[in-house]
Amino acid sequence: MKKTVQRIPFQILLLLGVSLVANSTLAQVPGVAESIELYQSNCAVCHGENLEGAAQGVPLLGDLRHGDDMAAVSASIRNGYVETGMPTWRDTLPEATIRNISLFILESRDNIDYVTFNYDTPLEIPDEVISSELHNFRLETVVANLDQQPFSIAPMPDGSILLTEKMLGLSIISPEGIQSSLISGTPEVFDDTFKPVFEQEWGLGWLFDVIPHPNYEENGWIYLYYTERCTDCNTLSREQNTPVSLNKLVRGRIDEGAWVDMEVIWEADKEFYGAGTDVAAGGRVTFDDTGHVFFSLGAKGSAVFQGIQDLATPYGKIHRINDDGSIPEDNPGYGQDGIYPSMWTWGHRSPQGLEFDTRTGQLWGTEHGPRGGDEVNLLLPGLNYGWPLTSKGMNYDGTPVNYGPQLGIAFELADIQQPVVDLTPSPAVSSFIVSRSEQFPEWDNDFLVGSLKARSLFRVEMDSNNRMVQRETLFAGLARIRDVEQDNNGNIFLLLEHNSGSRIVRLVPDD
Ligand code: HEC
Repeated sequence: MKKTVQRIPFQILLLLGVSLVANSTLAQVPGVAESIELYQSNCAVCHGENLEGAAQGVPLLGDLRHGDDMAAVSASIRNGYVETGMPTWRDTLPEATIRNISLFILESRDNIDYVTFNYDTPLEIPDEVISSELHNFRLETVVANLDQQPFSIAPMPDGSILLTEKMLGLSIISPEGIQSSLISGTPEVFDDTFKPVFEQEWGLGWLFDVIPHPNYEENGWIYLYYTERCTDCNTLSREQNTPVSLNKLVRGRIDEGAWVDMEVIWEADKEFYGAGTDVAAGGRVTFDDTGHVFFSLGAKGSAVFQGIQDLATPYGKIHRINDDGSIPEDNPGYGQDGIYPSMWTWGHRSPQGLEFDTRTGQLWGTEHGPRGGDEVNLLLPGLNYGWPLTSKGMNYDGTPVNYGPQLGIAFELADIQQPVVDLTPSPAVSSFIVSRSEQFPEWDNDFLVGSLKARSLFRVEMDSNNRMVQRETLFAGLARIRDVEQDNNGNIFLLLEHNSGSRIVRLVPDD
């Protein structure tokens, strides 16, 4: 294992957006560890080791008198409240350090744990009714004891649910909640994962999204998205003697437990296959109502920055093709040299959610920022969403994201599309739906957004100009939410991932 332990942290640090440090180890990573240390040595004496408060200072959990967002907490620290015993830190700590400590406080308040990513925190599904502003609901388990690493669910017209477990394969959950054996003949996936630095998985060759074609009932097509892995298949894999992988989209049908009629819908040239982890590879697929399919492909070069701002690569892009794999002539780069033909939008880091809203005809995506800067984006054709030139999030040490100079790319902030919703600190947003459930009428058109690290479900309300008007946390600190889906009967399902066994739950209204 020694060999991999030295190689992989490098990849993960790149993934996290940390600038290169020779011989990186977690302790040397500027940022998270540093912010904890700074807090413990400067603030814990008055605010308590766990933010619980102490004789000379107030708790930093619960309600904060002076505001609890990034700007307010940084201002409290920067300016202090000298008359009431809170020192001014402006002259002692640089601004980046103040932001770094602020992030640590906000992250702790949101149950965000960078060491375990909350994979191991006990999973307890509450029996009680969960109250929220517009609807009260319970969580009813549909099926439990799934693999630790599920990725996607797709409710089907017959009441069953298709499920992908990313290192295992595809199976069907019956309406009674019974998991079938794996569907045979789906693309090969790999479970040789290791956890070198964080308790975060690292691997190549995973199964991602499963989604039926909008006309599934007539044509039976099911689309599967995965990272195809190969060795000795391109320059990088030969030079470094390493496996490489890249996202690939296929469709097929299920017939008596077997995957049949498979067709390749989209794949890239093998020279694009990369050795970086599949964690940030994106992996979501969605259809519009005019025969197009969109899919997200994140950081997947040999480094997290590689090719994301280069229009000629498939990395860091949302792609759009026709449902048979051909390229739509109205794609932004159609027929132009130097633009990847399926490119729809670019500058994406780790795009974990993708939905087409048929009512408004708009495409939406979520993605992970570095530390802070998780985003909900309206995805408009041909626009640049900014990674790694700029982000509302920060590097792990509190300095701003600004890799333009390092990459030799000049840009105007005005040319970068800003997120509709910025989530700082980052809950690690995952999948989402635009709610259309008769069971939850007051949530109609609201975004229900899942998260991983924060283990929370958010409701985001937009106005007709696509501006966020309200954000509510429906529940917090429960379980890593990998997928959110709804069926035609208004059932809303969550796919919860956990070390002790993942599960699918349904939101049951209880008003
Ligand atoms: C000597 C004790 C002391 C130290 C050291 C100290 N604080 Fe405070 N802090 C206080 C007190 C007392 C208050 C309440 C001030 C008030 O609300 O008028 C406070 C308030 C705050 C608030 C605002 C809380 C709210 O309710 O809005 C924040 C944020 C904060 N401190 C962060 C920090 C950080 C971060 C550090 C370390 C860099 C730190 N403090 C160091 C005593 C201290």
